[in-house]
Amino acid sequence: MASLTTRLGPLRLKNPVLTASGTFGYGQELEPLVDLSRLGGVVCKTVTRHPRAGNAPPRTCETAAGMLNAIGLQNVGIERFVDEKLPYLRRFDVPLIVNVAGESVEDFAFLTRALSAESGIAAIELNISCPNVAHGLDFATDPTLTEEVVAHARAATHLPIIAKLSPNVTDITLIARAAEAGGAHALSLVNTFVGMAVDVRTRRPRLSNTTGGLSGPAIKPLALRAVYRCARAVQIPIIGIGGIMNAQDALEFLIAGANAVQIGTATFVQPRAALDVISGIEDYLEANSIGDVTQLVGSLVTDSGK
Ligand SMILES: Cc1cc2nc3c(=O)[nH]c(=O)nc-3n(C[C@H](O)[C@H](O)[C@H](O)COP(=O)(O)O)c2cc1C
Repeated sequence: MASLTTRLGPLRLKNPVLTASGTFGYGQELEPLVDLSRLGGVVCKTVTRHPRAGNAPPRTCETAAGMLNAIGLQNVGIERFVDEKLPYLRRFDVPLIVNVAGESVEDFAFLTRALSAESGIAAIELNISCPNVAHGLDFATDPTLTEEVVAHARAATHLPIIAKLSPNVTDITLIARAAEAGGAHALSLVNTFVGMAVDVRTRRPRLSNTTGGLSGPAIKPLALRAVYRCARAVQIPIIGIGGIMNAQDALEFLIAGANAVQIGTATFVQPRAALDVISGIEDYLEANSIGDVTQLVGSLVTDSGK
């Protein structure tokens, strides 16, 4: 059997397939359908300092090759997360990565510190890139802010810090380098691309928030390029995210330089998508006589030199 074990800095995963924040709830919702302990890791819905009701509906709409969402970070807030969600999640033999978002550097540090005092958390993912809330994007569009927020979160914890970046920037490698300089142990990329859709009958936006984040197959080539470029710009590991629907897609990200992947929108189509990706990667390794998944990482062969 080929080895699927992979590392994200100090964090060891039994396979490189995780669930993406906001698409897997708090694990509980999917547990009847998915054996959580088979996953490389679970990243739960963004948690904020205070509970958030999110945006008014409609908050999602289907597009030609994916979906738009503007949930607006609806969540129960850190107190209820720790009291109600964490005890359930820590029962499973799977690394739990808690995704957090704040409106200030201090919010991120507070959330990181508070969660670090709890047992059963493997890493913190900083959502510095949510496109659907006021100020949500500020951090990951400015290298100085990115470095500052990552450094403060890093100083507030002994846990690995993963910075989740926005693709809605001119040059994502500048932000990746800033997150690395701030002390991030790994990068997640990408969050959703800002988009919109119009109902021509009513001439109104299809989302109450007017704009939303595009995810799913439409963004895969864009996300893949972002991963490829960042993998050559930083030394820290990268988690590839964006339109991964099957094992073939996941393999593309690994070959382009991702050390692991997250499955998002695909779970809405097929709740067991992440498990299918794991077995598909296993089959590929066997078929190609590759003994260790890490041998694939960054193995892209190019003639262009780009
Ligand atoms: C309905 C929905 C809700 C999401 N909520 C969050 C969230 O709370 N925090 C976050 O960091 N990303 C969130 N995301 C972004 C995903 O984690 C992922 O980065 C993005 O969807 C791209 O991956 P995909 O194309 O595989 O879905 C959300 C995505 C969707 C579709």
